[in-house]
Amino acid sequence: METIVQKIRGDALPFSEQEEETLRLAGDIIRRGGLVAFPTETVYGLGGDALNPASSRKIYAAKGRPSDNPLIVHIADREALAQIVRNIPDSAVRLAEAFWPGPLTMILEKADIVPYETTGGLDTVAVRMPSHPAAREFIRRAGGYVAAPSANLSGKPSPTVAKYVVQDMDGRIEMILDGGNVEIGLESTIIDLISYPPMVLRPGYVTVQMLRDVLGDVQEDCTIMRDDSGQAPKAPGMKYRHYAPRGELTIVDGAQEDVVKYINSRLDRFRQQHKKTGVIATGASVQKYRADSCKSVGDRNNEDTVARELYRVLREFDDENVEIIYAESFDTDGIGQAIMNRLLKAAGHRVVYI
Ligand code: TXA
Ligand code: MG
Repeated sequence: METIVQKIRGDALPFSEQEEETLRLAGDIIRRGGLVAFPTETVYGLGGDALNPASSRKIYAAKGRPSDNPLIVHIADREALAQIVRNIPDSAVRLAEAFWPGPLTMILEKADIVPYETTGGLDTVAVRMPSHPAAREFIRRAGGYVAAPSANLSGKPSPTVAKYVVQDMDGRIEMILDGGNVEIGLESTIIDLISYPPMVLRPGYVTVQMLRDVLGDVQEDCTIMRDDSGQAPKAPGMKYRHYAPRGELTIVDGAQEDVVKYINSRLDRFRQQHKKTGVIATGASVQKYRADSCKSVGDRNNEDTVARELYRVLREFDDENVEIIYAESFDTDGIGQAIMNRLLKAAGHRVVYI
């Protein structure tokens, strides 16, 4: 299959005539049962018609993803929600008012029109209304309900730039909308509104504290920050090896100077073994390391920058065939919880405390 790649801007509306044409074509592809990757404010999504079981099956095939891992249904306006859920609890109304459009996914009871192929056999459905203007226009033109997991091959870090969507999906889907760099860089927060009190299944840019400010009592799935090998996470997708680079990644936690010293001594050892090494550091520390490939994920005091860079850096290590990777650790305040949740999974929970 030949994959069409077309540019689309993320900001400045209105769209140009060329962009309008691109969005119309993308929408038509979805309506006819095809697949289109598109930018959102979190990560790139791999879209298909959420109400068409054949489309969902194609998504699983294109990603190489197990079909018991449910998809998020993306909508463009709030009215669309009522069509795909059995009822809208008061908590959903309040969260939608506070955080939609934006990086929050809500789990609700599904209506009959949502096929089990989309929900991985569950009676619940995950719904999100993205804020990215091109994403929403695309969803409207696609018929209003776009099922979309992240646009990576199963097991790889989610794409935050179109280049990695092309790397994973070229030849597998009809079209890729290239919207440049995404804004946030980590997947949406997922909250289950069926359990009581509501439960966060995946941390993201909308933090647990922000959710508590709106809803009061909110619990967290215990597998978010701990090794989940013995526990089944509530979001089926969180159980799979995820976000992982091919190299062996270890997180080192401690006082900055000790961390640098420890990592450099390990790097020297691996260099003697002729292994290619990498380090994930921040702007303030990146020059202190002796790895083959030292990468900064931004500014420790501005964790938004770290969220935005993390997946790109993990994928670059794959491009460079780095075999051994050490990462500094991050605070778990604010979006730091989502950063450490992804980093811990990428590291298979290998952490050295010094
Ligand atoms: O930011 C995002 O959410 C991105 C963009 C494209 O919107 N999408 C995304 O989708 O991250 P995906 O498929 O990579 O992750 C969806 C997660 C999976 O862990 C899945 O198990 C969980 O959501 N999920 C979906 N439906 C669910 C349900 N009904 N109950 C529990 N978990 C669900
Ligand atoms: Mg994903």
